[in-house]
Amino acid sequence: MTRTFDVDHVLANISDHDKIALLSGIDFWHTHPIPEFNVPSVRATDGPNGIRGTKFFAGIPAACLPCGTALGATWDRKLIHEAGKLLGDECIAKGAHCWLGPTINMQRAPLGGRGFESFSEDPYLSGTIASSMILGCESTGIIATVKHFVGNDQEHERRAVDVLVTQRALREIYLRPFQLVARDARPGALMTSYNKINGKHVVEDPEMLSLVRDEWKWNPLVMSDWYGTYTTIDSMNAGLDLEMPGVSRYRGKYIESAVQARLIKQSTIDARARKVLEFVKQASQVKVSEVEKGRDLPEDRALNRAVCANSIVLLKNERGLLPLPKKNIHKIALIGSHMKTPAISGGGSASLEPYYAVSLYDACVEALPPSTTVLYEAGAYAHRMLPVIDDRLLRNAVIHFYNEPVTAPERHRLSTEPTTTTAFQFMDYNAPGLNRSLFWATLIGEFTPDASGLWDFGLSVFGTANLYIDDELVIDNTTQQTRGTAFFGKGTVEEIGSKTLVAGTTYHLRIEFGSANTTSMKTVGMVNFGGGAANLGACLRMDAEQMVEDAVRAAQEADYTVLCTGLNRDWESEGFDRAHMDLPPGVDRLIERVLAVAAHKTVVVNQSGMPVTMPWVDRAESVVQAWYGGNETGHGIADVVFGDVNPCAKLPLSWPVDVRHNPAYLNYASVGGRVLYGEDIYVGYRFYEKTGREVLFPFGHGLSYTTFDVSPTATVSPATFSLENPSLVTVHIKNTGPVAGAQILQLYVSAPDSLTPRPTKELHGFEKVYLQPNEETTVQIALDKYATSFWDEIEGMWKSEKGVYSVVVGSSSQDVLARGSVEVEQTTYWRGL
Ligand code: BGC
Repeated sequence: MTRTFDVDHVLANISDHDKIALLSGIDFWHTHPIPEFNVPSVRATDGPNGIRGTKFFAGIPAACLPCGTALGATWDRKLIHEAGKLLGDECIAKGAHCWLGPTINMQRAPLGGRGFESFSEDPYLSGTIASSMILGCESTGIIATVKHFVGNDQEHERRAVDVLVTQRALREIYLRPFQLVARDARPGALMTSYNKINGKHVVEDPEMLSLVRDEWKWNPLVMSDWYGTYTTIDSMNAGLDLEMPGVSRYRGKYIESAVQARLIKQSTIDARARKVLEFVKQASQVKVSEVEKGRDLPEDRALNRAVCANSIVLLKNERGLLPLPKKNIHKIALIGSHMKTPAISGGGSASLEPYYAVSLYDACVEALPPSTTVLYEAGAYAHRMLPVIDDRLLRNAVIHFYNEPVTAPERHRLSTEPTTTTAFQFMDYNAPGLNRSLFWATLIGEFTPDASGLWDFGLSVFGTANLYIDDELVIDNTTQQTRGTAFFGKGTVEEIGSKTLVAGTTYHLRIEFGSANTTSMKTVGMVNFGGGAANLGACLRMDAEQMVEDAVRAAQEADYTVLCTGLNRDWESEGFDRAHMDLPPGVDRLIERVLAVAAHKTVVVNQSGMPVTMPWVDRAESVVQAWYGGNETGHGIADVVFGDVNPCAKLPLSWPVDVRHNPAYLNYASVGGRVLYGEDIYVGYRFYEKTGREVLFPFGHGLSYTTFDVSPTATVSPATFSLENPSLVTVHIKNTGPVAGAQILQLYVSAPDSLTPRPTKELHGFEKVYLQPNEETTVQIALDKYATSFWDEIEGMWKSEKGVYSVVVGSSSQDVLARGSVEVEQTTYWRGL
């Protein structure tokens, strides 16, 4: 039987010391237990696309869903509800009660390092998808933690940056997804962001936190982002319940002292402790696994594959090259950096050890008849850091831990952990007797290269590290260190060394590592995750020109070519923003050269979490956007390429032609400690439409292998709309093409001209309709008060303004299918939800 407790009883009887201890974590992932009162310690875990569990290092493998933008691209409430449920079940397997997701910050600009984690540039789509995912997760009993409230829309100086934003943009764009979540899902927890909004860190801003509790009447547990509590008194008084992670840096004895000085009231402590207890009580209703373990069930794999396939956007298919006729291909060329190395997730707290990862190469081979000849060429490398060495080339690898450096006359081995890769993060690692603040580790393993020639090795570290091969020093990243972007900005650049190796020969590989505090680099102003981390990659040095030539020859020879490339978690990650929007060096050239000889039979597949420039797009006939696709990346893409799944996803963001066209281009990084949200409410398509600026692919765009007919009239009933009496928009749709498929009907609303400028149109509803060939149906989409209202800064209220609004239903923000109108007879103001 689950032991339980009564919150009032516990509060009335525990010591002040225990009350205060409840207000911060005890370690990276757990809350403070009070066993005498049956109050357990509950566990929280990352992250947005999968459940990593308690270990960054040697973690228990997990299901990895497609990234946030991919989930946003499904526009599929039901499927995302299922995906959320899968994450809940994964939490249960990992012994966790609380999921640290979803992320619903805004994709202000394509360069946001963490843009891939969020769902959309549109607040309605973002809040709607988030709500489905939260409801799915919480249906398992696991508590979801929507994050990061609010304005963590860039990585640059994320803990310090002051976001200067108008109240209107804050309300209409940045807070709106949270508001929708508060209205439709009401998850049990909310994580504050690292940044400031208009001069004050959100984590200690009473106005921001009371908006949640008083205005929206939603009372989640409010926890800080990791090391994102900066004060004792202000954060307590503003309403921050839980400082994470532990051990506490700002609470404990500091709260005791602040109470004595009457800077914090006893009632405030009681209120925060009550909230933590309520959270723990709710969390502990669900029985989670006592040991961290995996699930990896066939039905989870099938769901993950369906989510991936449903997220893939067919951007272009000019002469109907896709789907490829898999039964009639004699020879296919599979080209590109991502063909054998799928990008399954972006970097940072979103990344995890997956149960498995299906490559597109393997999925194509699996889908094609055995008689098909398959030609493979990498064509151009696309990595930023050299690829981590994993169990394909590494055997019998272990890491030994010591409290003494390698130079010590005597070392006592405190623990040994097996590893399958040469990348590790020790931020939450511990072993009996290990001095967490200063320790050393030695990784040893057998490395057997699969090709002869000059191999490049790349080593970046948070701490210090040297690489030895057969006891020869190949990289010194100890005596001289240069700061880079790895490990949330705390690591060095990747130092390169090389060595000529012979294929099939086994070499003794050794990394001598010193933990975080051995680093010679100053780390002022950054989160110190402790422990440290290192990343060793390796790659055969190739002649870039020869690689392209080989790829071109394969494309020429083959009946069809699939060229899959893009970015990966080295390019898009928590901790830094992208420097530009381009594909990795050499990749555009590869695509151009292949298209020059084989455009009519080549499909280009791009994997990235956010847009990339596509200078070759006019020459490409078929282009597929595949995001970071999770465990089932290869299957999901192959399903669409070969037509087993009819693509139905739509871009959840605008795809600019050039990075300089995006609305945040002039105001992105932190300058002088602040970033000005100068584009105001005109984020994404709201900007491109208002300014008439062309995009490569508009928001909401995505093609299908079938065609749909939509009646040109959108009937709105009742035709006059009031806050109490919302309207329904009705359209008729028929599948007029040869195969079954889904269309996503998007409802946009344009406000009448008024003194207050409004976007040309805004998304306020959508419906995904699946139809067999010749099947037709009537679709209704509800219009609510959000659709007619803007934030009136003078009144500090939402204003639904009198006038005639046009209503359009489109298959993208630009492709209008049906029109109608609705009248608001009387201006009304409102607050709340
Ligand atoms: C991230 C959060 C994450 C937390 C715990 C922070 O760096 O911003 O999203 O949940 O770490 O890993």
